[in-house]
Amino acid sequence: MMPDKTTKAYAVRSSPIHGRGVFAVRTIRKGNEIIEYRGQRTSWEIGSERQGLDPDEPYHTFLFELDDGSVIDASLRGNAARWINHSCDPNCEALEDDDGHVFIHARRTVRAGEELAYDYRLHVDGRITKGMREAYACRCGARRCRGSLLDKKQNKKQKRR
Ligand SMILES: C[S@@+](CC[C@H](N)C(=O)[O-])C[C@H]1O[C@@H](n2cnc3c(N)ncnc32)[C@H](O)[C@@H]1O
Ligand SMILES: [Zn+2]
Repeated sequence: MMPDKTTKAYAVRSSPIHGRGVFAVRTIRKGNEIIEYRGQRTSWEIGSERQGLDPDEPYHTFLFELDDGSVIDASLRGNAARWINHSCDPNCEALEDDDGHVFIHARRTVRAGEELAYDYRLHVDGRITKGMREAYACRCGARRCRGSLLDKKQNKKQKRR
């Protein structure tokens, strides 16, 4: 569904989850497109080299991984979508179209004041050490929080080891 452009749907504010977040400023109906995740398109390798430059948050990321393995790096030419946090029980979802454009849609009706969030499903290479798990720890506060920003399958697989 196309976005309702008659009134602005969101605002960037400080978030109880992490840093800045994006909040609904009016009701957003289920299925509505809210914002495109914009940024520079590049390879996973190049994008990854640009992350981790903040010594206080070396695992902080603005990368969105596309189906073909490349990324949208929102640290360059990014829009407000780069401030949307992760939740394990999200009210939004990120959908990639056939041209590799990513749009954030409402998964359910979102009320004014609610923080927008989607499931990041992050992937990382190699073995997930205890330190890595801590680095990607989730603070979404959902009742069924899985405790990690990492993809469900990767998180589970690693936990079984
Ligand atoms: C695309 S940024 C989102 C904006 C971020 N809040 C900020 O102010 O920079 C993604 C980063 O936000 C943090 N983040 C997002 N959701 C989180 C969550 N549920 N728990 C902990 N950190 C989160 C992580 O550091 C992640 O790498
Ligand atoms: Zn969580």
